[in-house]
Amino acid sequence: MNHKFPDRFLWGTAASGPQLEGAGSVGGKAMTVWDYWFLLEPEKFYQKIGPEVTSNFYDQYKEDILLMKDAGFNSFRTSISWARLLPDGKTINEEAVFFYRDVFTSLRENGIEPIVNLYHFDMPYRLYFKGGWENPEVVEEFKEYAQVSFDCFGDLVSRWVTFNEPIVPIEMGYLNDKHLPAVHNMTRAMQAGYYTLLAHVKAVSAFRQSKQQGEIGIILNLTPSYPKSDRDEDKKAANWADVLFNRSFLDPVVLGHYPAEIKELIQNENIDIQYTEKELDLIKNNTVDFLGVNYYQPRRVQASRNEQVDSEKILEKYFQPYEWPKAKMNPHRGWEIYEKGLYDIAINIRDNYFNIPWYVAENGMGVEGEEKFMNESGEVQDNYRIEFMEDHLTWLHKGISEGSNCFGYHVWTFLDNWSWLNEYKNRYGLFRLELETQERVKKKSAYWFKQLAKTNQLPTKW
Ligand code: GAL
Repeated sequence: MNHKFPDRFLWGTAASGPQLEGAGSVGGKAMTVWDYWFLLEPEKFYQKIGPEVTSNFYDQYKEDILLMKDAGFNSFRTSISWARLLPDGKTINEEAVFFYRDVFTSLRENGIEPIVNLYHFDMPYRLYFKGGWENPEVVEEFKEYAQVSFDCFGDLVSRWVTFNEPIVPIEMGYLNDKHLPAVHNMTRAMQAGYYTLLAHVKAVSAFRQSKQQGEIGIILNLTPSYPKSDRDEDKKAANWADVLFNRSFLDPVVLGHYPAEIKELIQNENIDIQYTEKELDLIKNNTVDFLGVNYYQPRRVQASRNEQVDSEKILEKYFQPYEWPKAKMNPHRGWEIYEKGLYDIAINIRDNYFNIPWYVAENGMGVEGEEKFMNESGEVQDNYRIEFMEDHLTWLHKGISEGSNCFGYHVWTFLDNWSWLNEYKNRYGLFRLELETQERVKKKSAYWFKQLAKTNQLPTKW
């Protein structure tokens, strides 16, 4: 079968400011919540590697952009650091303006479209200290930051993104301990989730009012939920997982309203959320132009066998995880690989979300200990990554040929990068980063990707 992709398809990679830039405390940048957490508890961070240097893109971006060009990318998504652009929340940091303008200009000069995200888990410490997404003042500050970004870079950016995976800081910070504030509290989770959505919507509204050229969207990590069996209880459990982890953001950003089940949950559990009708109207009137979807793994779900769970773990009443015995695993990362999930997402968007234009904003394979796959010239022979992309793209292609309106594919990621509490444990890049020297070394997958981007179809030989 000829796996040709639509004309002008976006081929590229995604990254983020906090994971790539480095320069954590230089160039006028203020502290983020990650800088603060590392100061407080460095032992929580894998091999005690903090967010100060990461992959040093701040100093090496010119060379890096040439590497991107060499790998055939026609687009690249990264994020602006809020704490760098507005260190005190009011004063624009001219060094940051210069840096980002130069990055976006160099990308364009090399035929690479910048897709620019405003928030990738990197709450300025100053605002975290005020309650982060639980405080409506932070929503207003985000709107102002978005406005400043549109004013400073609007002439260079034609696709904006408000948030990357807005549910992750909620899930990991309020129902888990992988992000700060590392508490287990459903009410706080839902309030912070609601204010995150409101911040997104206010940024969209500011974008529209400013009469900027271009489009604005959001990037969501969609994890299709598959029930253990056809029993009603399992299907109901899978629906709850879908509502909470996918539709809680997907429905309001595309359809303009929350799923009915969210109201049901709030009532059942007596969760008290602050909101106004005016805000719900704003949500209704500010849906996105396009969607980015991050897809790594599915969610396997079964009915809960436990009605009596403690109040910190309310969700366990609604569904529980299930290990599918037939799952194909990424042995280097412990995540299930289920390529068809991408097709199911494509069809779901086509049928239930107005067939809105969307692109794969992240998909990729993390591998621990990649040096064992190096050849004599130091190039990682990452055939497993090529297969991973090939298999996902085959399913994506089927979704597109059946009418889903997908306009691009971005692999996570360009260059091995720093990853929250995992740092450089799992490598995802098409280029390897040598941590000691900051040297970049091409992996086999970068050659394959170039073929793919150049021919706009899956390479038949590699
Ligand atoms: C995503 C996230 C990225 C990166 C990736 C791979 O969920 O957006 O920041 O960490 O996972 O772990």
